[in-house]
Formats: sequence, structure tokens, C-alpha cells
Amino acid sequence: MRFLALTLSALAAAFALPSSTQDEGAFVLHAPRPADNGVLGPLAEWEKHECAGCHLEITREWASTLHALAWEDEHYQKDIKKLKRKKSCYGCHIPQPLHSFDGFIPNPDPREEERVHGIDCAACHEGEDGEMLGPFGAENDAHPSAKNASFTSEGANRLCIACHATNIGPVIGIAKGFNETEVAKAGGSCIGCHMAPVERAHAKDPETGAPSQVRKGRSHSLQTPRDPSFLRQAFQISARSRGESTILSVSNRTGHRVPGLVERSLEFKLELFDEQGKSQAKVRHVIDKRRYLPVDEHLEIELEGSGATVRVIGDHDAPGYRRAVRFLDETFEVAKESD
Ligand code: HEC
Ligand code: HEC
Ligand code: HEC
Ligand code: HEC
Ligand code: HEC
Repeated sequence: MRFLALTLSALAAAFALPSSTQDEGAFVLHAPRPADNGVLGPLAEWEKHECAGCHLEITREWASTLHALAWEDEHYQKDIKKLKRKKSCYGCHIPQPLHSFDGFIPNPDPREEERVHGIDCAACHEGEDGEMLGPFGAENDAHPSAKNASFTSEGANRLCIACHATNIGPVIGIAKGFNETEVAKAGGSCIGCHMAPVERAHAKDPETGAPSQVRKGRSHSLQTPRDPSFLRQAFQISARSRGESTILSVSNRTGHRVPGLVERSLEFKLELFDEQGKSQAKVRHVIDKRRYLPVDEHLEIELEGSGATVRVIGDHDAPGYRRAVRFLDETFEVAKESD
């Protein structure tokens, strides 16, 4: 029975395409499948991490993110080798707890110990007195906890913005001005798109294996543009005719400019077909550091002539990739001019 239901829904999805009015509603966050850019985790010996004994699942998720690998990252290590003043690169890659002084520091200072842990749990969670800050402030026997605004829907973005709003090295500070974007005003948040919702026991007693209370929370596996199915969701795409031309509109659905790293590029290859399936025109467009797609905006790519459908192929290239990764190959119907 189960098999049948799956087959049918797969067919339904196939029939729904192609279409120029696909419903591209909420983001669908699966366990991410990042492409190999030379820094695939998990972090060695993550099981021995001091939090793993009780927060095994969360630690496993974190260990495969670039946060855990932020120090070990080969691209980062290669970059800092070339620099005289390496220290300026440490604050965000091996940060001290962001909540240690004065409540919250928007510019993290570097730490000396356990550099291999990169952006460690403590960077986001440890409070001034060693208590663990989180969304619940639930009492437990293991450590003091406290509820903190950085983990509520109102305050969560500041935690991410702290490190993601600065242009430095190959990084473009994409989170600058995030709170003023349409996406944020509509209630969008960094964790809303980058950490999938889960409902589970967030801790287990290391001796008895007894789970803590089941609560709503979020996966610590970051959703990444190295996962083609996540990257695809950055764009809402539609095609329409305008005069003698056909326009492919690509809108930015993320909360920030795309892309956010020097040397990353997304190439769109378009081909226009008539009703008989005969090719009418081809064009390619690349977005990168210089020709990026701004937040809350859309891009119009023009094809000469009119047609019935546009096939769009998208390839993603980034530092460390052996070859570009395809994140899009879909055909869109051309909507006729309404006026
Ligand atoms: C203000 C915080 C901050 C500081 C300081 C910082 N970085 Fe980063 N770094 C980041 C963030 C955030 C990313 C991830 C960007 C992304 O993926 O879009 C990153 C990613 C990188 C990457 C990309 C790694 C990869 O896997 O492709 C390299 C290389 C890097 N940083 C080098 C440096 C160097 C060199 C310096 C010092 C000149 C530096 N960083 C200082 C925040 C910082
Ligand atoms: C001996 C077991 C144990 C260890 C070790 C442990 N924790 Fe916990 N932690 C718990 C339990 C139990 C809870 C309560 C879970 C619940 O009720 O949802 C908890 C809750 C939390 C919370 C949620 C706070 C809130 O808002 O209620 C955070 C954040 C946290 N721990 C972080 C950490 C970090 C970071 C480490 C490592 C430095 C760590 N913990 C080590 C058992 C542990
Ligand atoms: C202490 C600084 C810091 C904080 C806080 C921080 N980040 Fe990052 N983030 C980084 C750095 C540095 C990297 C890149 C590490 C590397 O590639 O070496 C990164 C990488 C990423 C990536 C790219 C992952 C990939 O695999 O391509 C995403 C997405 C991301 N962060 C989202 C977030 C979100 C969401 C939050 C808030 C919950 C957050 N970050 C908080 C510093 C930070
Ligand atoms: C880049 C910042 C960041 C890092 C690093 C990080 N966390 Fe979290 N953590 C968060 C955020 C944001 C939430 C709140 C998610 C939500 O809204 O439920 C959270 C929630 C939690 C919770 C409460 C359960 C939940 O899902 O809400 C626990 C427990 C926890 N983290 C433990 C850890 C442990 C253990 C590590 C290291 C292995 C870690 N965190 C690393 C940002 C971080
Ligand atoms: C509406 C969903 C959404 C929101 C909100 C959102 N992101 Fe993203 N983010 C995405 C998507 C989709 C991508 C992949 C597109 C891309 O590569 O830029 C992405 C990419 C990224 C990257 C990788 C950029 C690069 O070029 O390496 C980082 C880092 C990141 N987001 C951090 C953040 C932070 C920090 C916030 C909050 C200030 C945030 N995101 C808010 C959906 C979102």
C-alpha cells in the first residue's frame, strides 16, 4: 500500500511539470546532501566532543557542517597561510562565546583552545556564567540553562548576522541589512531556511539512555547551497512573452544576495522551443560576485523570438569543486502577454 501511494505521488509531481505557475511556496528542508568541495565532514573524533555524551544527535549534525569545520577547512587554511596578520581571520572561524560579555557581542573574539572545533557549541550557546542559553531555559540535572532572545523568533537572526554581515577574505557579508528585507518583514529568518524543524528529545541520559522530554527544535545540519535541491529553492522562475521576445524571470526567494562567496558562480542556460519542439533561441547568463542577484529582486533574461516553452539548465560552480553541479533542469511554459 505504501509503495503504491509513493508511486502515485511521484507521478502526480511529474504531471505537474512543466508549468509556468508552479507553486513554489514554503522551503522544503530535507537532510542536506552537500556536494564535495574538498571540506566534507564529519569532523574527526566528533563522538568525543564534551557535549556528545548527552546531545549525540545534535553533535553529529553539527560535526558535518562548515561551522564545525571552519578551522580545519582546507580553503581557509590555504588562505591564511598567505597572510602576515592571520589573527584578523580568527574571530569568526574559532570564536569565543558570543554571549560572554555584556549580553551579546556582534564581533566575536578568537579563542585559543580546541581550535579544531571551529565554531563550537559554546560560541552560540554558552552564557556569561557558563550556563547554556537556548530556546526553552528548561531545568535539567546536567547544567544550568537559561532562555535567551538569540534563540527566539524575534532575536534569532542576530546570532547569525554577527558573523555573516562582514566582507572579508573571500566572503561577502550577505546578512547585512537582513532585518530590513521583505523576506524578514514577512517573518523569514536565517534558521527558518537553514535549520530544518524537528521534534525530538534533545538530550539523552548517557548512563541510562533515558531521553529528555520531546520538544520542537531545529536540526543542526545546515542547509547549504552545496545541496542542489536546496539551491534550486533560491529561485522562483517563470517565462512569458513580451513583444518579439521571451522573458525568463528569476526571482530571489532567499533573504540575501546570491551568491555570497567570491569565485562562486551560477550559470543559467536557456533554450526556447516552439510548439513543435524546434529550438528557436539559446542564451546563457551567469550570476557571480559582480553580477549577483540582489535580495528581494528578480532578474530578467531575454531570449529573441517567441515560443511555447523554455528549458532552463542551472550549473553551480564553487571553490574546491571538481566540476560544476547541476541544480536545475526544468521546462517552463511561456505565458502569453496579458495586455
Ligand atoms: C566577520 C567574520 C569572519 C572573519 C573575520 C573571517 N571570515 Fe572567513 N568566513 C566567514 C563566513 C561567514 C564564511 C562563510 C561564507 C559563505 O559560505 O557564504 C567564511 C568562509 C571563508 C572561506 C571559504 C571556505 C570555503 O569552504 O570555501 C575562506 C577561505 C575564508 N572564510 C577565509 C577567511 C580569511 C582569509 C579571513 C581573514 C582575512 C577570514 N576568513 C576572516 C566569516 C569570517
Ligand atoms: C550530562 C548530560 C549533558 C551534557 C554533557 C550536556 N547537556 Fe545540554 N542538556 C542536557 C539536558 C538533559 C538538557 C535538557 C533537555 C530538554 O529538556 O529538552 C540540556 C539542554 C541543553 C540546551 C537547551 C537549553 C534550553 O533552552 O533549555 C542547550 C543549548 C544545551 N543543553 C547545550 C549543551 C552544550 C553546548 C553542551 C556541551 C558543552 C551540553 N549541553 C552538555 C544534558 C546535557
Ligand atoms: C561565529 C561566527 C558564525 C556564526 C555565529 C554563524 N556562522 Fe555560519 N558560518 C561561519 C563561517 C566562518 C562559515 C564558513 C566556514 C568555512 O567554510 O570555513 C559559515 C558557514 C555557514 C553556511 C554555509 C554552509 C555550507 O555548507 O556551505 C551557512 C548556510 C551558515 N553559515 C548559516 C548560519 C546560520 C543560519 C547561523 C545562525 C544560526 C550562522 N551561520 C551563525 C560563521 C558563523
Ligand atoms: C551557529 C550557532 C550554533 C551552534 C554552533 C550550535 N547551535 Fe545549538 N542551537 C542554535 C540555534 C539557533 C538553536 C535554536 C533552534 C530553535 O529555534 O529551536 C539551537 C538549539 C539547540 C538546542 C535546543 C534544542 C533545539 O533544537 O532547539 C540544543 C540542546 C543545542 N542547540 C545544542 C547544541 C550543541 C550540543 C552544539 C554543538 C555540538 C550546538 N548546539 C551548536 C545555534 C547553534
Ligand atoms: C527564505 C530562505 C532564506 C533565508 C531567510 C536565509 N537564507 Fe541563506 N540561503 C538560502 C538559500 C536558498 C541559499 C542558496 C542560494 C545561494 O547560494 O546563495 C542560501 C545561501 C546562504 C549562504 C551561502 C552563501 C554563499 O554564497 O556561500 C549563507 C552563508 C547563508 N545563506 C546564510 C544566511 C543567513 C546568515 C541568513 C539570515 C541573515 C539567511 N541565510 C537567510 C535561503 C535563505
